[in-house]
Amino acid sequence: MLGSVLNHVLLHQTIMGLEALRQLEKAGDYPDTVIGCFGGGSNFSGISFPFLHRNLTEGKGTRIIAVEPGSCPKLTRSRFMYDFGDTAGLTPLISMYSIGHCIIPLKIHAGELRHHGAGPIMSQLLRVGLIGATSVGQSECFRAGLIFARSEGIIPAPETTHAIAQVVREAARAWEEGKPQTMLFNFSGHGLMDLSAYESFFAGELKDYQVTDEEIMRSIGRSELQPV
Ligand SMILES: Cc1ncc(COP(=O)(O)O)c(C=O)c1O
Repeated sequence: MLGSVLNHVLLHQTIMGLEALRQLEKAGDYPDTVIGCFGGGSNFSGISFPFLHRNLTEGKGTRIIAVEPGSCPKLTRSRFMYDFGDTAGLTPLISMYSIGHCIIPLKIHAGELRHHGAGPIMSQLLRVGLIGATSVGQSECFRAGLIFARSEGIIPAPETTHAIAQVVREAARAWEEGKPQTMLFNFSGHGLMDLSAYESFFAGELKDYQVTDEEIMRSIGRSELQPV
């Protein structure tokens, strides 16, 4: 059922995954792992849904991993509940993984990943275990971004470095285990507007903000929010 739903969910961004699928076909390859950074879920679903569809309908076993910032852990340290999609509380209540719409996530350079909640489809997929999630601090992200810039000649956006950091982690593990892995990740944007962030990184000024459990509990404990 979910497989046929995903087959028909052609989001404007799924063109990325469909195109990657065709390109990999031409290269005679298929990904063991698909990775994307995660703000609300659109670029991540765009790259991963066509592969998730094949997991569900063709028995493929691609691991699909969303990567969020440690400072805004809506996938890894949140609660599945009814919350507002916006910070002002104007949307209808949506069932989602959220750290609560009242929280103001600490300022990281990957500003577009600072959304308090995950999109409802993504939340449901995480809930039933069809996708995985991990979080990463911004120093590790910029270290990975630098590796990418030096090896590929393209400076990634701070958001994109989250996906690259997970690729680096997976590559190190594959190397240790001696198991080759084909990884596909979404390069969601360039970092030419974010050179000052790289400057802060080089100056050793980046902080790895972590939101505390108390802050999350205060935010999601608001009386108008409902457990699902
Ligand atoms: C460069 C870049 N990457 C990733 C994102 C992630 O957002 P989403 O998870 O909603 O795709 C954004 C959002 O604007 C972005 O600008």
